[in-house]
Amino acid sequence: MIDTNTTGHGKWSSRFTYILAATGSAVGLGNIWKFPYITGENGGGAFVLVYLACVLVIGIPIMMAETMLGRRSQRNPIEAMELLTKEASADSHWHYLGWMGVIAGLLILSYYSVIAGWASAYVLKAFTGSFIDADATAIKSLFDSFVGSPIQLIFWHTLFMLATMVIVVRGINNGLEKAVQYLMPALFVLMFLLVAYAMTTDSYFKGLHFLFSPDFSKLTGNSVLTAMGHAFFTLSLGMGAIMVYGSYLSKDISISKTVYLIAGADTVVALLAGIAIFPIVFENNLHPSSGPGLIFETLPIAFGAMTGGWLMGVLFFIMLAVAALTSSISLIEPAVAWLVENRGFTREKACLWSGGATWFLGLGTVFSFNVWSDFKLFDRTLFQLLDYLTANLMLPIGGFCIAVFAGWIMNAKHSEEELAMQTPAGFQVWKLLVSYVAPAAVFLVFLHVIGVL
Ligand code: PHE
Repeated sequence: MIDTNTTGHGKWSSRFTYILAATGSAVGLGNIWKFPYITGENGGGAFVLVYLACVLVIGIPIMMAETMLGRRSQRNPIEAMELLTKEASADSHWHYLGWMGVIAGLLILSYYSVIAGWASAYVLKAFTGSFIDADATAIKSLFDSFVGSPIQLIFWHTLFMLATMVIVVRGINNGLEKAVQYLMPALFVLMFLLVAYAMTTDSYFKGLHFLFSPDFSKLTGNSVLTAMGHAFFTLSLGMGAIMVYGSYLSKDISISKTVYLIAGADTVVALLAGIAIFPIVFENNLHPSSGPGLIFETLPIAFGAMTGGWLMGVLFFIMLAVAALTSSISLIEPAVAWLVENRGFTREKACLWSGGATWFLGLGTVFSFNVWSDFKLFDRTLFQLLDYLTANLMLPIGGFCIAVFAGWIMNAKHSEEELAMQTPAGFQVWKLLVSYVAPAAVFLVFLHVIGVL
């Protein structure tokens, strides 16, 4: 899928494979696991509205910017920033942006892999019939006893990290490409079926109401930050994943069109997940704010109750694990590409080191759900701290810098050339969003959170 050319840097075989891979990176646990539970924790409608606004005015323009930086440089994020800074005769400090991205990717992967391990474990639980006719209490105790066991979590986390490393070592091969080609559409179909099930419950409209009718009194500074951070997280922005994927993109493909497609698909999956989950939450008198376990405590009830639920449960968790896998390879790829291209590592050694370090770090997240659950720093468990640091701080800061670089440092002629928008007005709108609106929005949200505003 990525052919290596003379510079040693790869290329996608077609526009379609690129869209597939970038959508694979964007659609993942962020949409199906994280979006519903943070929406539940932050009061619903108003939070969703802020998230959608952030995707539109911050996420989409920055996604175009980040893809463009990658494609123009045809390098890994660290080298890309070095090269582009030279081209623009700018200050060399910009390459720290590449560094921050590589580190953020590994930090995110360390907890992402633990949660993806939960999804994998639930494939087996669904398969062995654990959900059949189980009520909300039984499903909750199943989940509690599972996350209470460090051994089980470590086992599944290890398995998932190994799967990620094997795929990344091989380069993204035809097998995965084919699999994703079928599994992605299948995931869509399954999400619609789950929504159809949610429609049969009495609480369907209550769920919709929770998601789509905004009550702004429930919005705090921190929930606005979480909504904005999630826009970055869910679109894989601000840490070089999209930059590295853009760097494998050939010059004749329209960046803007592919970005609309990817962001659109990502948003639809998240909304479908929300529409499927909240009716089940209310129907079973569960709490929307029950945290990271939300989908594991709700969807199995539906699988246990509906006809054909056994098969749907198995398929759903397989697809969730695969969706997580296509995201995890993009989280580790910037680090691997840099180790191979700049540090002379073989691909095997690069995967082993970055994967090994990430696996070790992941143990912190494993323990924060059981033996270290009382250990808190700044009022947060280790998992919550890592999530806050990466999604709410590092990604928005990375995205802010990408916007400033694309809007102010890079030559406008170069960016116009790269983006090749259909109309000149389209380019002007992008330029306005990326130079002023997106950086100002990120900055204002930060000021608000630290209490200056
Ligand atoms: N976008 C992925 C998701 O929603 C997570 C991710 C974040 C992937 C950052 C790459 C980079 O699950």
